[in-house]
Amino acid sequence: MNAPVTSTNLSQGMQRQLQIYFAGMQGIKPQLPVSYEALEQKAREVMKPEVFAYVAGSAGAETTTHNNIAAFNKWQIVPRMLGDVSKRSMEIELFGKKLPSPVLLGPVGVLSIAHPEAEVAVARAAKAMNVPQVVSTVSSKTIEEIAATHGDHSHWFQLYWGSNNDFTRSIIQRAEKAGYSAIVVTLDTRIFAWRERDIQNAYLPFLVGEGLANYISDPAFMAAVGNTEDKMKMMMEFAYCFSNASSTWKDVEIIRNCTKLPVILKGIQHPVDAKKAIDHGADGIIVSNHGGRQLDGAVGALDMLNTIAGAVGDKTTILFDSGIRRGADVFKAMALGAKAVLVARPYVYALALAGEEGVKQIIGNLLADIELTLGLAGCTGWQDVTTEMLLKAE
Ligand code: LAC
Repeated sequence: MNAPVTSTNLSQGMQRQLQIYFAGMQGIKPQLPVSYEALEQKAREVMKPEVFAYVAGSAGAETTTHNNIAAFNKWQIVPRMLGDVSKRSMEIELFGKKLPSPVLLGPVGVLSIAHPEAEVAVARAAKAMNVPQVVSTVSSKTIEEIAATHGDHSHWFQLYWGSNNDFTRSIIQRAEKAGYSAIVVTLDTRIFAWRERDIQNAYLPFLVGEGLANYISDPAFMAAVGNTEDKMKMMMEFAYCFSNASSTWKDVEIIRNCTKLPVILKGIQHPVDAKKAIDHGADGIIVSNHGGRQLDGAVGALDMLNTIAGAVGDKTTILFDSGIRRGADVFKAMALGAKAVLVARPYVYALALAGEEGVKQIIGNLLADIELTLGLAGCTGWQDVTTEMLLKAE
């Protein structure tokens, strides 16, 4: 791409538009498809079929994913005219830290199946674009290696909270030591879903040894397998460390007691669960249904956001995940009560297609789109983005 078009009179979004249009005058087109749908299609063409299916797929008939997308269109922005929107800011404050935009890269594991540089390439892109990365327990690179790429730049750790509490404590300690600044605990994956595409392909990346870097590098994990390299023992212990269908709300104290970092519970879909999360010491929640990958036939995540924000929005920090693709999606989630949003599949496709550079491009596009959407709707910042800006379609 050409040298960035810079002018103090141009907003971030306008600069990016002009940069792309000027490049076009020299015959240079964006390297990656700009629309999410075309990006996904292009990724399908280059990824191994079973890998694409694992990333793109959801649970069962994938109705939850459809409901996620449909929910966005039920809420429609009603723009306001002739306010002075010449100066716009996407800045937010999250857990005491200022961030230039409300976008975080959501936790996605096993990224080595998409690109050899996996989460490290994503970390470099996240740092360059100044968006925090939430790193998965099942990352292909160790959390220490990924953290080293970030240095002082914001990175959070996502925990799969399984049955082995020694592993849970050990990995949280490792995350703290490596400079992660929040612990995101995923609650919706205590049981692994029935995913038709993966079942059809008989493919689960962990079973071929991908995504285990944080386990085989962990002293508590290795002690539990008797410090052997026996694959079968490792897989059995991995399953034990990954899932736990018997944990209850009271057990949240196990995590709460072993870290001073903010603990954020991910996968909340009901206002009563949101209240329980607060009662059990969570510092924040993520309204999410895991991008439709867990419970099939479930409500679109965005449809629950407003109700949850009404119940607990003044008592906790709410983030939103599941279906964020464009600027308008971010606007709607923020209007319905989110303080920040997580985006996931788009950056995985970009990683598969063009590595670090690809991830940078799609983040840059999303940030530009958000910033322009704010202005087009008549807003200068998130303080203007309220539920009253939306109409719920009948
Ligand atoms: C998944 C888990 C690993 O959705 O997060 O595949």
